[in-house]
Amino acid sequence: MSEKIKRIGVLTSGGDAPGMNAAVRAVVRTAGYHDIKVFGINRGYDGLINGDIIPLNRGNVANIIHRGGTFLKTARSDDFRTIEGRKKAFETLNAYDIEGLVVVGGNGTYTGANLLCKEYDIKVVGIPGTIDNDIYGTDFTIGFDTAINTAVEAVDKIRDTADSHNRLFFIEVMGRHSGYIALHTAIGSGASAVFIPEHDVDLGKFVENLKKAGRRNKLFNLVIIAEGNKNGGAYELSKKVKDMYPEIDAKATIIGHLQRGGSPTANDRVLASQLGYEAVNALLKNISNHALGLVSNELKLTSFEDAISLRKDPEKNMIEMAEILSM
Ligand code: F6P
Repeated sequence: MSEKIKRIGVLTSGGDAPGMNAAVRAVVRTAGYHDIKVFGINRGYDGLINGDIIPLNRGNVANIIHRGGTFLKTARSDDFRTIEGRKKAFETLNAYDIEGLVVVGGNGTYTGANLLCKEYDIKVVGIPGTIDNDIYGTDFTIGFDTAINTAVEAVDKIRDTADSHNRLFFIEVMGRHSGYIALHTAIGSGASAVFIPEHDVDLGKFVENLKKAGRRNKLFNLVIIAEGNKNGGAYELSKKVKDMYPEIDAKATIIGHLQRGGSPTANDRVLASQLGYEAVNALLKNISNHALGLVSNELKLTSFEDAISLRKDPEKNMIEMAEILSM
């Protein structure tokens, strides 16, 4: 039987997501319970390459469960994409006798972890932390729930002014490659339409529908656009509409990084706690090169390879439902 793991590292990488602190807290406290020493790696893989490491104990992670951002800081590391960078990172792990690593992040984070596992003898498990919710192998990623709550709150405010002026608003939310934030924000805010990369909407047809609705006395409209929408962002679409129909008073708003900040919702804190706890349990079982997730509320392990290469898209029936409920 192999020996029990004694020293682990934890890092957050890629775009920050509310709930990352709760995940790190859960890792540290679960590890402490099992007498495993934990090292916090600052600024993601860059910290691993540069040896920017701090010991963590129960006390260091007190009073952070409610905080947005990540106290370990984060980065998108270019150096870790290189063979030399990963070699340096492994040297740091060796210098600290770190036998297992928990990485919290999205697709880029898992891609790095997958390479590290293949090239070196190190156990790595991943926790999905990104507001985009675009990670295969989990129903929800840490930060998504907070981000859509923030976006819905912002859209509610725009609704007031849109209603007062009888305006059409194009509101752009985050999601470089994915429409999850846009779709859920649209459903949650009762928007008139949603434009996402996974589903094409004809702009001309959409405006004709708006006009028909206008005749039924629907005088203002909110349209949610995913950042990665193929036929343009909020400013582009509002300009197109104004060019085609000068009588329509169309405005554009980009919610932007507002969606990445703020105190995590209870759902994100609970999800982060569950996954942080299970990440340490996985390392104790000598599991490596896998990401953790919750699917239908059950713990699921997905190889990094699958998590990176398989796409998770918003369910078709949710897109259809958003359309039916919108007009
Ligand atoms: O965290 C994911 C994400 O928020 C995407 O939706 C967005 O496109 C991207 O990060 C922005 O990243 P950055 O802050 O590095 O520009």
